[in-house]
Amino acid sequence: MVTDGGIAVLDFGGQYAHLIVRRIRELGVSAELMPYNTPVSDLKNKDGVILSGGPRSTLSKDALTIDKNVWDLGRPILGICYGHQLIAKELGGKVTASKLKEYGRTKIVVLRNSRILKGSGDRLTVWMSHGDTVKAAPPGFKEIAKSQDNALAAMEDTDRQIFGLQFHPEVTHTQKGRRMLSNFVFDICNCKASWSPDDFIQKQIAEIKKVAGNDRLLCAVSGGIDSTTAAVLTARALGDRLQCLFVNHGLLRAGEAESVLSMLKKLGLNVAYVDASDRFLASVRGVEDPEEKRRIIGKEFAEVFKEFSKRNGPFQWLVQGTLYPDIIESGSPNIHAARIKSHHNVAALPTDIPLKVLEPLKDLYKDQVRIIALKLGIPQEFVKRHPFPGPGLAVRIMGRITRDKLEICRKASYIFEQELKRSNLYYKIWQGFAIVGDDKAVGVSGDQRSYGHIVILKAVKSEDGMTAEWAKLPYSLLERVSRRITNEVKGVSMVAYGISDKPPATIEPQ
Ligand code: XMP
Repeated sequence: MVTDGGIAVLDFGGQYAHLIVRRIRELGVSAELMPYNTPVSDLKNKDGVILSGGPRSTLSKDALTIDKNVWDLGRPILGICYGHQLIAKELGGKVTASKLKEYGRTKIVVLRNSRILKGSGDRLTVWMSHGDTVKAAPPGFKEIAKSQDNALAAMEDTDRQIFGLQFHPEVTHTQKGRRMLSNFVFDICNCKASWSPDDFIQKQIAEIKKVAGNDRLLCAVSGGIDSTTAAVLTARALGDRLQCLFVNHGLLRAGEAESVLSMLKKLGLNVAYVDASDRFLASVRGVEDPEEKRRIIGKEFAEVFKEFSKRNGPFQWLVQGTLYPDIIESGSPNIHAARIKSHHNVAALPTDIPLKVLEPLKDLYKDQVRIIALKLGIPQEFVKRHPFPGPGLAVRIMGRITRDKLEICRKASYIFEQELKRSNLYYKIWQGFAIVGDDKAVGVSGDQRSYGHIVILKAVKSEDGMTAEWAKLPYSLLERVSRRITNEVKGVSMVAYGISDKPPATIEPQ
């Protein structure tokens, strides 16, 4: 679907391409991620075009490029990283594979007044991630910033309205990155801010009414913010024609089934409960491979839905709380990013399911969903709960899932969450949980040798789950949690703390 106005972000496969879309939507302007080779005819109604970063080199044989007519479209163009190099290469500048590779935080110096860097100051820290370098800007372009290593960092041609940034303004580590995107979107492309949560809710309700007609819908609700928000939004549109289903797959957190059910009922949703723990646990017994676990769980979910649907249907639709990052990280065919994990509600669902899929939140990020959820009247404490993956503790138990490891993972997570709440830190971090695998360590308890599991605690700070920083929790808290876990959870002799960011790690270990 091509929407009118706003910004087209042409996707060259960079992991951050989607973040550009997000930042522009945060400015209240519509933005769409589109394939890098989108024909110029589909860009005519756009106010501006951004060329994203990407993993390839513009100098390689398999370099990706845009429809040549885009250069003469008469709309402002901003190239970021790969996009910046593409501008240089295609418009007569010079790109070289330099020995100087810049990754991470770099300082740049602004050389002159410019439209794109307006308001950025003279010196700033930016986020770089590139191997090739623009050696010479194309004719008509002015160099407007250089990096600490003297490499060209930004250029612009104000007559043709073409701009290039070697660094990533969409990444929060780039100082004034938001201002640069705002310069492009508002001052250069003349866009008007129009996106608002109320608008989104009204449009989605109208859209759901339109596509669902007189059909009945089934919504799998996990108690997480995504599926709950999708359900409440759909129920606003269709009332009783929405049937919610909460499936207990036996891999939930301690006390979760009871608390989720009661919350869903309080929200006025028409919800059924199926305890399918035995069949889920049997289906993953002996499975070690993480993607295989996710696939099996996705398949079991689909079977449960099909059976429920047969008994209580007919239903024509399945409503899901899929978010934009789920689609990106599952490697949707329209997007050139690599598949990281099969989030169970996207790529792992079998395609033979005889229900059409409705995903009202598929263009949103988690923090945007939280705003929508609050607007829909979902209580704060529910909205602020830490995200919990669809496959549950299955992705936090490394290797085979056994009853012992499940108990350890569940109890250790419970203790960790409880202590985070007691220290008033629970709501200040994105997620905190425990992981358990097959690694064991020797311990001493009551003068006896023990040989128990190693539990890894993870706590991260994040804005949207796409990138994350490990949380610098106080030692006293970690010490208390460690002591409680080794004392209270049978079969644990050591507790460790995960200190990897995303990237390179992901938040969940599998
Ligand atoms: P990762 O591990 O990919 O996680 O860095 C990013 C965020 O997504 C959550 N997550 C999932 N959520 N189904 C979900 O609904 C899944 O299969 C799934 N896997 C990861 C994760 O908890 C984190 O907040």
